[in-house]
Amino acid sequence: MKSHLEKFRQGPSHGLRMSRRASSKVRSHNGTTFQHNTPVITSPPPSVCRPRSGDSTWIRDAVFEIRADSHRSADTHLFRVNMPAFQRHGVDFYLKDESSHPTGSLKHRLARSLFMYGLVSNMIHEDTELFEASSGSTAVSEAYFARMLGLQFTAVMSKTVSEEKIRAIQFYGGKCHLVESASMASSEAERLASECGGYFFNQFRNAEKATDWRGNNNIAETIFTQMEKERSSEPAWIVVSAGTGGTSATIGRYLRYQNASTKLCVADPENSVFYNAWCTGDRTLTLKSGSLVEGIGRPRVEESFLPQLVDEMYKVPDVCTFAMMRKINSLLGRKVGGSTGTNCFAALQIMCNMVAKGERGSVVSLICDSGERYAHTYYCDDWMAAKGFNLDPHSERIDKIVNSARWYS
Ligand SMILES: Cc1ncc(COP(=O)(O)O)c(C=O)c1O
Repeated sequence: MKSHLEKFRQGPSHGLRMSRRASSKVRSHNGTTFQHNTPVITSPPPSVCRPRSGDSTWIRDAVFEIRADSHRSADTHLFRVNMPAFQRHGVDFYLKDESSHPTGSLKHRLARSLFMYGLVSNMIHEDTELFEASSGSTAVSEAYFARMLGLQFTAVMSKTVSEEKIRAIQFYGGKCHLVESASMASSEAERLASECGGYFFNQFRNAEKATDWRGNNNIAETIFTQMEKERSSEPAWIVVSAGTGGTSATIGRYLRYQNASTKLCVADPENSVFYNAWCTGDRTLTLKSGSLVEGIGRPRVEESFLPQLVDEMYKVPDVCTFAMMRKINSLLGRKVGGSTGTNCFAALQIMCNMVAKGERGSVVSLICDSGERYAHTYYCDDWMAAKGFNLDPHSERIDKIVNSARWYS
């Protein structure tokens, strides 16, 4: 990576050099100069993992490079969805369009956080090979940042991942290593990384750690800022789904940190253990089969999923997810991905409950990624038929619910 950020580095690097001296004069914030004694260690204990020489400059440049890219980004748009039947009852529905990130999904935020976490933890270096287990979206975003830093990146994914995601990863110079099923991806990525001394991002473990839940323009903070001028500015509900569980953990923590009265709902697809784990408190649950909704629903309770932060969960049948995607397409004039359908179906249920109880307020959810990534699956009639789905009755039911603001089972 080219060091073109010299001017930014002058400030921080003085501090760094000073702290390396055994003893140095430091000026405190009130202007007093005092002696700072740093213990001198002549030979480090053998087990200590030390920074490698020359790395600090590269890491500093890499951190600046990613921060500069983030600075160039605009916020993602928050749409108010046109649903007159609900609006008449004082219930407004919003969708934050996370598909408009440079790499097309909400995973752009996570990938940036995972890179930052690896860099500032001194785990990613100039020559580190990078690996991730992914259903595709995170890997596309990680490939983007890897190319930015000139690092090699390999995505380990189930062979069922969409062709569009594979092409996007390859576009950014990433490699794709396909395994039989999603449940094998993490162990395989870990194995590949340890074989070559590389770094395994491990989004399913690290998502909740790497993301800044206090603010720093995280997804929760930007929702609250963008809602400021709405008639119900503090959302009654935020509805998301869970892959790593990182998004729900960040929002759940932020709500408590801000003392907001907003409730958090997580929508779970079929073939996922999150809902059952939330109901029973059992984190050991596993499943053999994987979720059909790419990016969400897992066969085991991932470490980043924190059920104690979730106020409500809904299990959404896949057929309702797919019918809801089409409804959102007709309401917004844009194609959305599968997990957005899952989110919106759960949000619809919440909005109907609010109307039934006479509650007014706003409900916010996410467009996680765009439908363009699923042209060969969810938006392909042959694929739907091959999987045995008939969406028509479900689309009719959703129309009826949206037009009446009443829930029909
Ligand atoms: C398309 C899509 N939507 C939603 C999610 C869920 O986000 P999180 O991993 O933060 O739980 C993912 C996760 O991979 C995803 O790929």
